[in-house]
Amino acid sequence: MKNRLFTLAFVLGVICPAHSQQRKNISSKAISPDLIGVFFEDINYAADGGLYAELIQNRSFEYSPTDHGGWNSFTAWEYITQGYGYGALSVETTSPVHPNNPHYAVLKVEEVGQEGIGLKNSGFDGIPVKAGEKYNFSVFIAQQDGSSMPMQVKLLNKKGETIGETTFTTTSKDWKKYTATITVTQSQDSASLVLLAKAKGKIAIDMVSLFPQNTFKNRVNGLRADLAQTIADLKPKFMRFPGGCLVHGDGLGNMYRWKNTIGPVEQRVAQKNIWGYHQTAGLGYFEYFQFCEDMGAKPLPVVPAGVSCQNSGGTWRIGGTGQKGIQLNEMPDYVQEVLDLIEWANGPVTSTWGAKRAAAGHPKPFHLEYVGIGNEDKITPEFKERFKMIHDVVKAKHPEITVIGTVGPAPDGEDFELGWKFANKENVPMVDEHYYMKPEWFLANQKRYDTYDRLKSKVYLGEYASWGNSLFNAIAEAAYMTSLERNGDVVRLSSYAPLLAKAGHTQWNPDMIYFNNTTIYRTANYYVQQLFSTNEGDMYHSNVVTPAINKADTALAYSCVRNSKTGDVILKLVNSSKVEKSFNVNLSQFKGIGTKAVVTILTGDATVENSFETPDKVKPVTSNFKAARNFTYTVQPMSLTVINVKGNR
Ligand code: AHR
Repeated sequence: MKNRLFTLAFVLGVICPAHSQQRKNISSKAISPDLIGVFFEDINYAADGGLYAELIQNRSFEYSPTDHGGWNSFTAWEYITQGYGYGALSVETTSPVHPNNPHYAVLKVEEVGQEGIGLKNSGFDGIPVKAGEKYNFSVFIAQQDGSSMPMQVKLLNKKGETIGETTFTTTSKDWKKYTATITVTQSQDSASLVLLAKAKGKIAIDMVSLFPQNTFKNRVNGLRADLAQTIADLKPKFMRFPGGCLVHGDGLGNMYRWKNTIGPVEQRVAQKNIWGYHQTAGLGYFEYFQFCEDMGAKPLPVVPAGVSCQNSGGTWRIGGTGQKGIQLNEMPDYVQEVLDLIEWANGPVTSTWGAKRAAAGHPKPFHLEYVGIGNEDKITPEFKERFKMIHDVVKAKHPEITVIGTVGPAPDGEDFELGWKFANKENVPMVDEHYYMKPEWFLANQKRYDTYDRLKSKVYLGEYASWGNSLFNAIAEAAYMTSLERNGDVVRLSSYAPLLAKAGHTQWNPDMIYFNNTTIYRTANYYVQQLFSTNEGDMYHSNVVTPAINKADTALAYSCVRNSKTGDVILKLVNSSKVEKSFNVNLSQFKGIGTKAVVTILTGDATVENSFETPDKVKPVTSNFKAARNFTYTVQPMSLTVINVKGNR
């Protein structure tokens, strides 16, 4: 009987969602089980120098003034000639490790001196290392002059003392990868790595790399463990990557092309990051998909829609005109590139691209379900033509994939209107809405999705945030998220943005998680996302919670969902006012629950926010609670309260 009731609700809510919405007194509907995910973009040094655990900055000498004014092949490097040695250092491109990785350093040792000569790397704001931990060092070297070169690698503390080292001797005139493990003897926030040549001769050097062995899930070429864990702790149902504006890039040549980011790291194509720095692509599509799998999130890659960012070339304003389209005669190849991505992710090992996934160490498919096409593109005839070419082919060849279209950078306006009109005309299954607004906007617009047509495209709220990290911002977002749950039949996915920001390197504020090389702090916004994500349901129930005094109190927001796997009934109660308020709760419609409940409260002063100095000023507090069929619950001022009434399953 229970199953039949569930099926009926599912049919009403999903197969005939419009009817479901219009029926009066309906008490429940099926909602998306994937509602809360994360948005990852390489902005604010989120990837290189952030989540990607590589400790050497500019490891392949590819930095250039195009990436960032004043940068060059030796940015983050220093030429070392200690102990009266001398020689010469240059950058060359004649015979690289791989054509995709054109620059390399050439070191000529004329006089070796007492210590040798070489290169020193200062990492990303220094190299953080921990005593007793092991680090994987590697480098590509080609012997250009002389038969072999004795090499020394040292990690130095700030005083210049050695805190870890290894030695090896080169053996090849061709490019060869040398690897070693270095055990560090002293913890340091800001060490440096020195690579010294110890005999006369000439060597070419590229891909100087140092990784902690302790990466997230101990992956090779992996992710910074503490940062990845902080994201995984959000229990996201999906992860969108690699952006954001990074996807469609600063001009056609800067689009994020997924094929450039897979395979051996020395063969990947590094390029300028649209946010004013450099992307090595060391964190590429394989690593993104693997991270998703490691944290149990569905992968949601977004590919360019065949057009570059309308703000390309520095026209940073809404409606910029820098958008350029891939030549139409090149579009069939581009469409194939998108099809190849699906084959790479899901195809059998016997397929061309499935074989490449297997060769990278993942023979099993990644179970790709969603593909975003375009990011906030200006809805021009050029965009529409190219989007349609991609969309129609993907839809025809891969009906199992949900394509997500794009409707501009704002909650309304020209691109929003045109984007929705186009999506409805083309029957795009889902569209990606973006908006960054004041907290007051989120409080005032909670009915936004109540009236969305259930028969049209579904919504992925792919980027949103209120402007700030104070508790008030987070509470406004929490209030809004109750409306996302209420409309979880039409809003299928949502992700706060941006996710990460490295102190001293932010291009965008606010963000959800702030970090430096050694420390991380979680914002109040993080905790709101986490409370919703870890308390998701797949059925929405109305008529369970009501404000005790004034049903129309605009300071209050609330939702009730049930998780059909656990049987838990979960209430979210939001109070954005400065005084206590009460809710009446009626659980009598639910079978299979007892009185055992857990209540988690996030509250404090409206202006309070976390920081590196005070990371725990705002933090949820959990306690046990005894629920009843009917009860009144008083919530604190400026608070999110989550009551999880445990199911008997
Ligand atoms: O999230 C930061 C930026 O905001 C994204 O790159 C872009 O899509 C949006 O404008």
